[in-house]
Amino acid sequence: MKTTEGVLEPYGHGGDLWTASARFGVGAGEWIDYSANINPLGPPPQVLEALENGLAAIVNYPDPGHRELKRRLSAKLGVAEDELLIGNGAAECIALALSGLDVRSVGVVAPCFSEYAQLAEAYGAEVRTVVGREENGYRAEPSELDALLEQVDLLFLGHPNNPTGLTYSLEWLREIADLAAERSAYVVVDEAFIDFIAPERRATLLPELRSHPHVLLMHSMTKFYAIPGLRLGYAIAAPELIRKMARKQVTWSVNGLALLAGQACLEPETAAYERRTRELIASERAYLRSEIASRLAWRTWPGEANFLLIELSALWTAERLQEALGPRGVLVRSCAKYDGLTERHIRIAVRGRADNERLLAALEQADGEETLR
Ligand SMILES: Cc1ncc(COP(=O)(O)O)c(C=O)c1O
Repeated sequence: MKTTEGVLEPYGHGGDLWTASARFGVGAGEWIDYSANINPLGPPPQVLEALENGLAAIVNYPDPGHRELKRRLSAKLGVAEDELLIGNGAAECIALALSGLDVRSVGVVAPCFSEYAQLAEAYGAEVRTVVGREENGYRAEPSELDALLEQVDLLFLGHPNNPTGLTYSLEWLREIADLAAERSAYVVVDEAFIDFIAPERRATLLPELRSHPHVLLMHSMTKFYAIPGLRLGYAIAAPELIRKMARKQVTWSVNGLALLAGQACLEPETAAYERRTRELIASERAYLRSEIASRLAWRTWPGEANFLLIELSALWTAERLQEALGPRGVLVRSCAKYDGLTERHIRIAVRGRADNERLLAALEQADGEETLR
């Protein structure tokens, strides 16, 4: 297994403005950050208001039972409160699945979010990797996954997957869930980016989760609601699994402001913001794909999330492109270190039109200079 640590990603993740600023001398507040996948609209106004009004409450401990947020999530999602675990980001929920379910071996389909393997190793679990085939959009075949499920306690599936943005069909998810049940393995379907897909177009096992007691769904509130600095996520699974995971959680790991922000995200008034976000991301993603194809002839994949996987032309490596864009104040994510990808793969976030124009101009300029070299 390769690590995903790059020159600008020493911790294996995008969004590291501190490393980029130290390297390029650009102030941390001056970047257009295409390396982290955060809603370009910023948090909904209801969240900012709740944080301002709630600031005085930082003198109190947060609710260790996360009761109000669970109550609202349960109503929105149509699941029982004891089927929910609130975490300090989806990352904590993933960690709690590994520790709470006593997982000794983990399966991943590469390329995928690096934290699956990193956390698994941190908890002493062995990691087995199947590399998805490019012609399948980097998905693995059910037969390959069946063989993997025979060998592991828990399988991670990104849906949409990071860094490809690609999803699985509902039929396929059901098939994997059934195979996992036969093999007595858990399947974590990581839906951290699923909110970017309109509810009526989403393939998800959520409405039928009670028929799949081996399946856990992971959700993040940090990307769609643009609060990665506050940290908030949740897991949905059978009450018995949720209880086992909760037993391993540090009390108060979810802070009071994050809980308030989460509650505000679930107010009915955020519906317009949610709709606007999906419209903006869908149209800007299509715009970026077509402009990248016509201006640069670089390949992209038809992802459904707020980011795009790109294969650069033979002129480039991801690292050289980062070096060319850094002085221009633009940050992109190298995917060179992902299993299954090459030094020519990068990932970019989908942002608003003005930023996207600046990105495209910077890419065209850098590509023109490189062609002349
Ligand atoms: C696929 C995937 N899952 C989970 C997470 C963790 O999200 P959070 O910020 O909620 O911990 C990330 C963050 O980048 C991610 O890309």
